[in-house]
Amino acid sequence: MSLPPKIEVFFDAPTIADRVGTLGRQITEAYRGKDLVVVAVLKGSFIFLADLVRQIDLPFTIDFLGVSSYGDLTQSSGVVRFTSDLSRPIEGKDVLLIEDIVDTGLTMQFLLANLDTRGPASVSVCTLLHKQARAKVPIPLSFVGFEVEDRFLVGYGLDHAEQYRHLPYIGIVVPQD
Ligand code: IMP
Repeated sequence: MSLPPKIEVFFDAPTIADRVGTLGRQITEAYRGKDLVVVAVLKGSFIFLADLVRQIDLPFTIDFLGVSSYGDLTQSSGVVRFTSDLSRPIEGKDVLLIEDIVDTGLTMQFLLANLDTRGPASVSVCTLLHKQARAKVPIPLSFVGFEVEDRFLVGYGLDHAEQYRHLPYIGIVVPQD
């Protein structure tokens, strides 16, 4: 019988908190005087969003959209569907999309094209993690927490088969047999 997988810590909680604080200050400077709506891409960004918005010292609104990409457990296929949509129009708004990780970029490409049809003043992307080596399409990223190598990461919102999202750190699943 195989043992449950071990999680190796990749970014610990204080390291993440420090970086999220810096991102919050950068976003505060960038959006001063703008009509900002922060849009979280569910589910993976929910913990990042909760920490990040408390570091943005501006008036703004928050909305959510859900996407799911068809594929296997660790690879997105690029075929994306909405599981839930925004609750309000974004016409004329400065939209900041909050994502957990940009991997191939296919999910973000789909989202940017879709949101663009709704007439926002601007759409920018803030991602906690970016796997540059796996990019299949170029995505303009305005705010990036950490550039990471091609490893499958879990925790702090990120899942593997819906597990591990609650971990307070970002880690790597190490199979044990
Ligand atoms: P993309 O379309 O390939 O850029 O994939 C984006 C989505 O794939 C993310 O929002 C995650 O849900 C998922 N994903 C990609 N890499 C990882 C990972 O290392 N851990 C957990 N989820 C991942």
